[in-house]
Amino acid sequence: MKFFIDTANLDQIREAQDLGILDGVTTNPSLMAKEGITGEQNVINHYKAICEIVDGDVSAEVISTDYEGMVREGLKLAELHDNIVVKIPMIKDGVKALKYFSDKGIKTNCTLVFSAGQALLAAKAGATYVSPFIGRLDDISSNGVQLIEQIRLIYDNYAFETEILAASVRHTMHIMDCAEIGADVMTGPLSAIVGLLKHPLTDSGLAQFLADHAKSNEGK
Ligand code: E4P
Repeated sequence: MKFFIDTANLDQIREAQDLGILDGVTTNPSLMAKEGITGEQNVINHYKAICEIVDGDVSAEVISTDYEGMVREGLKLAELHDNIVVKIPMIKDGVKALKYFSDKGIKTNCTLVFSAGQALLAAKAGATYVSPFIGRLDDISSNGVQLIEQIRLIYDNYAFETEILAASVRHTMHIMDCAEIGADVMTGPLSAIVGLLKHPLTDSGLAQFLADHAKSNEGK
């Protein structure tokens, strides 16, 4: 399972990268705005900075909602770095744009996916990744993890190569549920990734080992 971090915060990206387990980054316009990155050139420079930190796929989202605009923006983004994945919303023109980029061999991430039907369309259009937003489904009393299960079954039925990128992951249990189902990738906040480390028995066990070592070496 690939681990992507879902942020535009360079310090958090560096921290995840330093752990040695980071496979890529996803961003979106809201995450960019949260970091105060505004204006086309600043956004472009920020994507370049992210690509310098991480050796893995970096999703960069288009703002246009018409086919021509998405193609124009996507081509520009794809030129920034080999690791850029063009992130396209699941709308009618977006499906057309996915097909365009797929035919050109440019990687895509189909975002804002909330149903298995949308995931099926994205795969048909040749998306590299499909991003079902599981946390946002949970927020409205739908079962996000169940959607991952449904998409896994459909993709396996037809051997679609589109990778399931579980997005809008909020906590460690989302990661573990997605891993059990067989999501190809998960993208979440640093807190969810680092949260996997924690176990009270690890902490108390280590404290005991260190205390015993110190006692047995006293005066030596
Ligand atoms: C996915 O690529 C999105 O950036 C993201 O996972 C959305 O997550 P949120 O629902 O926590 O905003």
